[in-house]
Amino acid sequence: MVMLGSVQMLENRIPPSPEVTQLLDNAIQSGKRGTALIERMLAFSRQEQTHLEATDATNLVNGMADLMARSIGPMIRLEIKFPTVLPNVRSDKNQLSSALLNLAVNARDAMPNGGSLPIAADEHQVLEGEKPGLPEGNYVCLSVWDTGSGMSAETLACATQPFFTTKSTGKGTGLGLAMVATLLEHSGGKLVLRSASGAGTLVELWLPVAEAEEAAPSAVIENCESDASLRGYRILAVDDDELVLRNTVLMLKALGHTVMTATSGEEALFLVGNDSHIDLVLTDYAMPLMSGSEFADIAWNIRPSLPIVLATGYAKLPFGANPALPLIPKPFSQHQLADMIDRSQRKESQPAA
Ligand SMILES: Nc1ncnc2c1ncn2[C@@H]1O[C@H](COP(=O)(O)OP(=O)(O)OP(=O)(O)O)[C@@H](O)[C@H]1O
Ligand SMILES: [Mg+2]
Repeated sequence: MVMLGSVQMLENRIPPSPEVTQLLDNAIQSGKRGTALIERMLAFSRQEQTHLEATDATNLVNGMADLMARSIGPMIRLEIKFPTVLPNVRSDKNQLSSALLNLAVNARDAMPNGGSLPIAADEHQVLEGEKPGLPEGNYVCLSVWDTGSGMSAETLACATQPFFTTKSTGKGTGLGLAMVATLLEHSGGKLVLRSASGAGTLVELWLPVAEAEEAAPSAVIENCESDASLRGYRILAVDDDELVLRNTVLMLKALGHTVMTATSGEEALFLVGNDSHIDLVLTDYAMPLMSGSEFADIAWNIRPSLPIVLATGYAKLPFGANPALPLIPKPFSQHQLADMIDRSQRKESQPAA
């Protein structure tokens, strides 16, 4: 975050020349590559964040058909073959979407000359001992099938291991199938891979049919257009990492705001209690002693309508955090920061009832 933020700010300050642009671009690209890797590692390691709920796989797949088609490119034809009626499955919606996207991208990489990519779904009743690793019950099997290069027996044996990849540096992290396998395990289902060299690959996601469960609302801030006219707020930035804090301050100042800083929730509470002119607090989530969410709960007792935004590197609001808190994902760019401020000032964040 510090690297990308600093480079993006440098970009606005250095007179442009082809050489400088190229160098800055290299730095930005490798920073983004690092971001993608860290995001995947976080998603992989934060398994307790799996949020299992009744999931309509038909809806989910139809909803991401455009994104998948764009990811696989015009040479590969996506064919969605779902039955008209399919029961809900028990899984994590976000993780299931990224699992399917990863499978589509794997298929694309295996079919450099194009082909077709059928994604199908079927309902099955699995009997006791019928499928190794699957308890008896009702399942939906989502399958992704490609006619690409396939995998050798050695590759197939290692494919779901974390960091195993046959792709060149920067192309693959080797966490894709490991994440898919972990998600299936957590969902109470199973990942089945069938493949042979030159014979394509069939990936099956066996997911248990859901009992009646509720979907949870999300408080993540959506992207919105930035309103450059909204400037000059008094903002309190809170982060225990001084380097990140310094970078956030530079970004906020560059946007024309007045910035105060605190390196802990306790220090931030002191400032909120003694300065009634703070328009917004931007706080890190993961801090020792007092988390950003705990800070917000106490700060709202002091000033109930104070807009507070939580910055977090985690894909979702951590369990136990106040769901009324809007999130800004780390690393954020100056543009995202401007959007977030604009948004939270137009619609002040409210504490949970
Ligand atoms: N559809 C497929 N066809 C052929 N080989 C595959 C297919 N899917 C996966 N593999 C093999 O399994 C390896 C691991 O896949 P995985 O999705 O875990 O990581 P990756 O695709 O290499 O990296 P990332 O998912 O981070 O982009 C791949 O590098 C590739 O060798
Ligand atoms: Mg992959």
